[in-house]
Amino acid sequence: MCMDAERFDTFVLAMRKDLPAHLREIEEEAIRDHVPILRPAGRDLLSFLVRMKQPERILEIGTGTGFSALLMQVAQPETGIIVTMEKDPERIRAAEEHFQKYDQKQRIRLVTGDAAGNLDALLAAFRDGREAGFDLIFIDAAKGQYPVYLAAAKELLVPGGLMVFDNVLQEETLLSSRYQVARRERTIHARMREMVKELMEDETFQTFLTEAGDGMCVSYKI
Ligand SMILES: C[S@@+](CC[C@H](N)C(=O)[O-])C[C@H]1O[C@@H](n2cnc3c(N)ncnc32)[C@H](O)[C@@H]1O
Repeated sequence: MCMDAERFDTFVLAMRKDLPAHLREIEEEAIRDHVPILRPAGRDLLSFLVRMKQPERILEIGTGTGFSALLMQVAQPETGIIVTMEKDPERIRAAEEHFQKYDQKQRIRLVTGDAAGNLDALLAAFRDGREAGFDLIFIDAAKGQYPVYLAAAKELLVPGGLMVFDNVLQEETLLSSRYQVARRERTIHARMREMVKELMEDETFQTFLTEAGDGMCVSYKI
């Protein structure tokens, strides 16, 4: 059976209750301004995982305008914190505005600049005990950098923690052989396949792959 992802999202939207007003507002802005945000089935899965896991400490790579961080905050314990990373100045400005308005207890920390460098700094702080590990890590930034994010996330995640990657199927191109993929996309295609295989084969993680969102890879650290 071949699932039409857009048709599925439309179905999910028709079935679910409305988002809280502040998230609806950010979503409407994102649609208006062509800013990418989590697709409906993906956000339901992420929100479900946060609700189940009750993570005190969340790390997000790829803030966008703040939709997914504020979505996770709704399901997270009130005492929880979120560290989220973004490099695009326009998105940073919008996310700051949204966090100022809707993160009333100021529990979301926006780290600006390239995520790879900021992850190195976070890892250094973690290794010398200045920063604790994370209970859930959500990765939704530069797809070509996913293997770099994976290496950092594996270390930063506490045992029993969850790691969630969005957009791993890349509009289903991941399912095609490299010869069916446009030449300019072959490197990213190969890296993503390798990363998914590495995670699926890693015996220190239990991983599953789903079509939700644009393909999500969910791993539990054993
Ligand atoms: C799909 S959007 C994130 C959407 C957001 N998670 C949501 O659902 O509301 C991906 C974001 O990652 C950011 N990004 C891409 N490469 C990055 C990098 N190297 N460092 C930090 N942020 C990056 C982009 O600027 C973009 O805003």
